[in-house]
Amino acid sequence: MTKGSIVAGVLAPHPPHLVYAENPEQNEPRAECGWETLRWGYERLRKSLEQIEYDSMVVLSPHWQTYVGTHFLGVPSFKSLSVDPIFPNLFRFHYELTVDVPLAETMEAHAREAGLVTKMMRNPDFRVDYGTIVSCHLTRPEWDKPIVSISSHRATQYFSADVMQGHMLKLGRATREAIEASGKRVVLLASNSLSHRHFTSESEVPEDMSREHIYHHGQYLWDMKMIELMRQGRAREIVELIPDFTEQAVAETDSGALTWMLSALDFPEYPAEVHGYGTVIGTGNAIVEWPQARHGGAA
Ligand SMILES: [Fe+2]
Repeated sequence: MTKGSIVAGVLAPHPPHLVYAENPEQNEPRAECGWETLRWGYERLRKSLEQIEYDSMVVLSPHWQTYVGTHFLGVPSFKSLSVDPIFPNLFRFHYELTVDVPLAETMEAHAREAGLVTKMMRNPDFRVDYGTIVSCHLTRPEWDKPIVSISSHRATQYFSADVMQGHMLKLGRATREAIEASGKRVVLLASNSLSHRHFTSESEVPEDMSREHIYHHGQYLWDMKMIELMRQGRAREIVELIPDFTEQAVAETDSGALTWMLSALDFPEYPAEVHGYGTVIGTGNAIVEWPQARHGGAA
């Protein structure tokens, strides 16, 4: 079997507002417009990924939260309605997706062998979390690639951001080794926002962009710092800063997703491609691609 590889890693945030504003047929609410800079960023990402052949997408989502270990989707297909618990007015999405179960099982086995606590999720009635659905939809709205979803175990909340870092560095390495062993070509998605301080009240018209802005200048400075390091190819420094960033910018990197992905990519030293940055209810969101295949990637 030929050796598998990670062909791209993407920071692919999941605000449901972006799906709402796109008006796909699967989503019940209708929007006039909204959050264009981010939606156009996702368009650029999709065009870029069209140049690459790949078999599956693997996503680590902050909204599949597990307290005992890391879980992997392990059922061949899911079909249901996903309703955002905070924004049911924006996101009632009828999803239908397939899972690359053999890849998920290979990843689970490698993670277990690396010493992590793991579990395959085999419940056919499981409701797939909206973070997984939104990131995958915006990256590949055709839903024609099987996915693997990985849970975010809550080590940041239960222990500390540093404990989470240690686990995610291991999980990233195990992910890379599993993908190499699988023979497949895979796109990784870290489904998280950057700074994550929300508005506390919503405008009457959700897509009223006169109300959309960063919440706090300190949050913005942190976002720009992290994005600049991405543009400069300084992945190891990003990972070193993540515990402070998580604490000071209330960043969604608490989920471990970004650390996991940069570890799986083996800390790229080439510049990442920033496809877009913008806020959603005040949270900072960047769509960033590490085109690993074009850089003869380490993975
Ligand atoms: Fe989120």
